[in-house]
Amino acid sequence: MIEIRNLRKTFPHKNAQNKNAEKTAVDGLSLTIGTGEIFGLLGPNGAGKTTTIRMLTMLTRPTEGEILYDGKRVGDEDDALAIKQMIGVVPQNLNFDQDLTVGENLELHARLYHMGKAEREARIAELLEYVELSGVVNDGVRRLSGGMKRRLLIARALIHHPEILFLDEPTVALDPQVRWRIWELVRRLANDGATVLITTHYIEEAEELCDRVAIMNKGKLIAVDTPKNFISRLGRFVVEWRDGTKRDFRLFDSREEAGRFIGTLDAAASIRETNLEDVFIELTGRKEGL
Ligand SMILES: Nc1ncnc2c1ncn2[C@@H]1O[C@H](COP(=O)(O)OP(=O)(O)OP(=O)(O)O)[C@@H](O)[C@H]1O
Ligand SMILES: [Mg+2]
Repeated sequence: MIEIRNLRKTFPHKNAQNKNAEKTAVDGLSLTIGTGEIFGLLGPNGAGKTTTIRMLTMLTRPTEGEILYDGKRVGDEDDALAIKQMIGVVPQNLNFDQDLTVGENLELHARLYHMGKAEREARIAELLEYVELSGVVNDGVRRLSGGMKRRLLIARALIHHPEILFLDEPTVALDPQVRWRIWELVRRLANDGATVLITTHYIEEAEELCDRVAIMNKGKLIAVDTPKNFISRLGRFVVEWRDGTKRDFRLFDSREEAGRFIGTLDAAASIRETNLEDVFIELTGRKEGL
């Protein structure tokens, strides 16, 4: 179980008026993520998702608040190694050594975890099989497609058998088929018992994969629930219409109410079932007139 309590991160943000000004990237985040969950972190650009992951994975120190992994506190020297062993990270940016081969990249990473030679070789072969990259083990990373690079990052993150995997926008810029393959891989990991925390801009990705999602905006947690509950809470039907060039929509609990509303509109409109994207825009975008 991951417990996040009142997590805050501020960065110095000098400006002409105030050279001590600060930017709050994460603002009082509290969450509990259960073992074996696939948990999604959604939010627009700059919401604080990557900063949250970086604090959870000990890449940056929180300004305030605490993080506990099965009761072990991030920041406690005694627990640091045990926590590092528990977690694996697939970062937002591809941070391989581009001059090395696929196999060499994994080898290098396995050495960081002090794995012996026999163990390293067996684990690397097993993971390459798992992410279906065995055929390119001797290829330079530079030559891989975007989807293959992402799969290699996942293999690398899994090298030390972590119980918890963090994926920061794992399918960004990938085509739909490749995205599906990554989703399958994530599902398989969860079926094998891993806890998965994933950030994404693709709302259908969260809807498809996640047991629960947290919606963040401007550093703050707005809501957390299952995709299904979000939809039934906000209204299962959407009326969509065009207002000039702008698309507008409204959520309703029943098809009948939606139909009645359409009767009051001048514009051509349609009814459909709500998806998580509607929920996301309703919760994060409306107030700014997006
Ligand atoms: N090292 C840093 N120094 C200063 N400001 C930072 C730093 N890292 C992040 N920020 C700021 O904190 C806020 C949150 O950034 P973060 O990268 O966590 O957002 P995000 O939700 O991951 O966004 P995206 O969807 O674009 O990846 C942004 O306003 C960003 O500019
Ligand atoms: Mg990010």
